[in-house]
Amino acid sequence: MRQSCLVPPDSFTQMWGDLAAIGRDARTGGYHRPGWSVAEQDCVRWFGAQARARDLRLNEDGNGNRVAWWGEPTDGGVVTGSHLDSVPDGGAFDGPLGVVSALAAVDRMRVAGVRPVRPVGVAVFVEEEGSRFGKPCLGSRLLTGALGAAEAAALRDGDGYALPDTMAAAGVEPDLGPSDLLRSPAAFVELHVEQGRALVHADAPVGVASAIWPHGRWRFDFTGRADHAGTTAMSDRCDPMLTCAMTVLAANKQARLVDARATVGRLDVTPGGTNAIASRVRAWLDARAPDDATLHQLVDAVAHQAGARAERDGTSLAVEIESLTARVDFPVALRDRLVALLAGVPVLATGAGHDAGVLAAAGVPAAMLFVRNPTGVSHAPGEYAEPADCEAGVQALTAVLTDLASRP
Ligand code: HGY
Ligand code: MN
Ligand code: MN
Repeated sequence: MRQSCLVPPDSFTQMWGDLAAIGRDARTGGYHRPGWSVAEQDCVRWFGAQARARDLRLNEDGNGNRVAWWGEPTDGGVVTGSHLDSVPDGGAFDGPLGVVSALAAVDRMRVAGVRPVRPVGVAVFVEEEGSRFGKPCLGSRLLTGALGAAEAAALRDGDGYALPDTMAAAGVEPDLGPSDLLRSPAAFVELHVEQGRALVHADAPVGVASAIWPHGRWRFDFTGRADHAGTTAMSDRCDPMLTCAMTVLAANKQARLVDARATVGRLDVTPGGTNAIASRVRAWLDARAPDDATLHQLVDAVAHQAGARAERDGTSLAVEIESLTARVDFPVALRDRLVALLAGVPVLATGAGHDAGVLAAAGVPAAMLFVRNPTGVSHAPGEYAEPADCEAGVQALTAVLTDLASRP
């Protein structure tokens, strides 16, 4: 006899504890859960077990995305969820908070005797951070067709492994491309830890998203001339690290001028000898701005200054765009329905990309709930949300899903 799918009302705490150790770095307290890694796949297996414990029907597409359905999946469903992968040494909340809160909200709805008239899906999108294959929201972009299957199949990780091979090695049968995993949902709502301090300033535990800033990733390849670090006269050098350093400073200055965001957090130096001038430095620029025009002006200015500096340094520069996401304004009607339902919670934009933004850009009525993060820190071990605020998030999500799923 199948175990009854009664789940304790404090299932959030239990589920949160389940995930706490998976992929955690004991030294830093951060998480390493790149797409299709052992740790991320352990999280995915955990999700499958949670779905089965609730008698939810678990469907998967050929991109590695998953949805656990309460009710027969049909068009017009209400879907919620987020992602389980992380950035290197990331926080515990970015992604998992949305998945655990979604399962806990389903539990609360069942305990409250809610009888949805629409199927309710809990989704997990794969490789949202793009930390392994360089394409953020890889799973949701493939699902919506925003990223083509051929382009995705050509992606390689830092070790040169191709995406399809990586998926197959993880036991996922790759069938990349648009999927109807979500069917045509009436609404998608993603709960996410806030990656900033707007809710702290508003003194509110929960907020609703208005928009996602445009953002992108550009790879700057600086090529110079390898030489001896100790014997080469300074005037004889063509040092790509110098051009790179000036470019990083230029990005910081340009971002400050227009209140945008620009960071180089990842470098790849060849050959990487302590006592050798590099032959090549590869730098990834992450840039974001309130609007598309400002973002492009910012990156154009940085690329122009980098090129001018390269000429002075005797180095060469190649700039490659790796991903670009246009500004997304969430549908006002759904946003305002959530704000009304949640008694006037704050509405805030974010510079962070999310699967909800990709779905909104593809025409899905999407919305986001944010949960207060006392330090605002994210993409780092210090990322945090107080238990009381997490509870407020689950209550808000439960109210939203109940409202959306109870009306034809
Ligand atoms: O990087 C981002 O914008 C998000 O956290 N994936
Ligand atoms: Mn993130
Ligand atoms: Mn996230």
